[in-house]
Amino acid sequence: MKIYQNYVGGKWAASSSGKTFEDRNPARWEEIIGTFPRSTPQDVDRAVSAAKEAFESWRLVPAPRRGDIVRKAGDIMSARKEDIAREMTREMGKVVEEARGDVQEGIDTAYYAASEGRRLFGVIAPSELSNKFNMAVRVPVGICGLITPWNFPMAIPTWKIFPALVSGNTVIFKPAEDTPATATTLVEILIEAGVPEGVLNLVHGFGIEAGAALVEHAGVDLISFTGSTEVGRKIAEVCGRTGKRVALEMGGKNAQIVMEDADLELALEGILWGAFGTTGQRCTATSRLIVHEGVYNKFISMVVEKSKTLRIGDGLDENSDVGPLINEQQLQTVQKYVEIGRQEGAKVLLGGVRDDSGECRKGYFFKPTILSDVIPGMRVEKEEIFGPVLAIIKVRSLDEAIQVANDTQYGLSSSIYTKDINKAFQAIRDLRAGITYVNAPTIGAEAHMPFGGVKGTGNGHREGGWTVFDIFTEWKAVYVDYSGKLQRAQIDL
Ligand code: UN1
Repeated sequence: MKIYQNYVGGKWAASSSGKTFEDRNPARWEEIIGTFPRSTPQDVDRAVSAAKEAFESWRLVPAPRRGDIVRKAGDIMSARKEDIAREMTREMGKVVEEARGDVQEGIDTAYYAASEGRRLFGVIAPSELSNKFNMAVRVPVGICGLITPWNFPMAIPTWKIFPALVSGNTVIFKPAEDTPATATTLVEILIEAGVPEGVLNLVHGFGIEAGAALVEHAGVDLISFTGSTEVGRKIAEVCGRTGKRVALEMGGKNAQIVMEDADLELALEGILWGAFGTTGQRCTATSRLIVHEGVYNKFISMVVEKSKTLRIGDGLDENSDVGPLINEQQLQTVQKYVEIGRQEGAKVLLGGVRDDSGECRKGYFFKPTILSDVIPGMRVEKEEIFGPVLAIIKVRSLDEAIQVANDTQYGLSSSIYTKDINKAFQAIRDLRAGITYVNAPTIGAEAHMPFGGVKGTGNGHREGGWTVFDIFTEWKAVYVDYSGKLQRAQIDL
């Protein structure tokens, strides 16, 4: 069993408390991946001091050079893709093919963010006065606290860390306590790629200790958090009180709409991938299927039949389609929601129980679950479950489908299957979500596109794409007067 450490100011070290926690394989709970430092506010404080010191030199490194380091990290990730993917699967359960995709998303992000080191374009504008030059340039925000979830242990940290570094910020990275090994691998790669001491600091531990200390810390300028809406809202309150910039990516209750004119075979592939890929543990997972009454019965039986063929098992087995849930607590939550659905009157057409057959007994496996006859407003229709549970709702028209899809506190991803271009464009216009797919499932965002949501999902920011640089930079307006005299704006017209 490996003993892992924090990385602060260029040195690997245990927590000042000396305390540790264990990281285990959700497919085989007896298997311990390693022990990790259970960090304290004191550890966070040291990391903030290191990041502050390093900021003064890092901000002066030319952005294309900072980008070169991130590009090199992408090269190293490419070379080690298979090892990282296998480590990830052992640590958090997703099937290894998907773990490879998670690493690939990190590689894509590295190359995209690195290239932005040569852009980070500003704006030149005319001045209202003669012989005066106006421009606006991007400058780093400063010290960034990045708090990441376990479901995309490589992709999501890279979405935050790479653009933060390219922009000239220094970072304290607090990864989820369920995936600290993959997080450590990412930090090791960045060190190997040449990130200077203090620029990137890794502090392991729990949200209520290390995470909370980071959010409260007066020396931190920015918090970027991906996780639950409940925790995100608390973080936003603290950031409001302590005057930090805060970017939040939170829950989802994403819907796939299937109209009566849809290609049903295509819609079927989409729903299986969207609902049961990553065992439903994506913020973008499809947890609601909204079907037009004209094809409702037919499509449901297609979905049930095909879902029966999904193979549940250890993600390291290439034959597995659906891996375990992340931990015992999540298993209980998913089970609880199935019971709630039953009590609310939904029909459990498939699954609804833990899979404890054979080797699955050793982990947190839950059978792909389909609930039909779900009525808008039921808890299983409204609340994020984060597991392989699909709620199916019948509608009579496109307007009703859109209204049901929008009637949620969240707004991350959305999807419509139709062959009718008019319906597709109406959905693009009217679905209230940060992402809309046409004839594709709700999952599958690409690294160079804006990622994020509206309503309870976010607070107006977008990660990914060019938009993430609006999180990690501030605008500075610059006026250069080359007239050689005092020119008073708004007065000397
Ligand atoms: C998440 O679940 O938080 O679009 C991220 C997707 C992936 C990213 C998901 N590219 O499903």
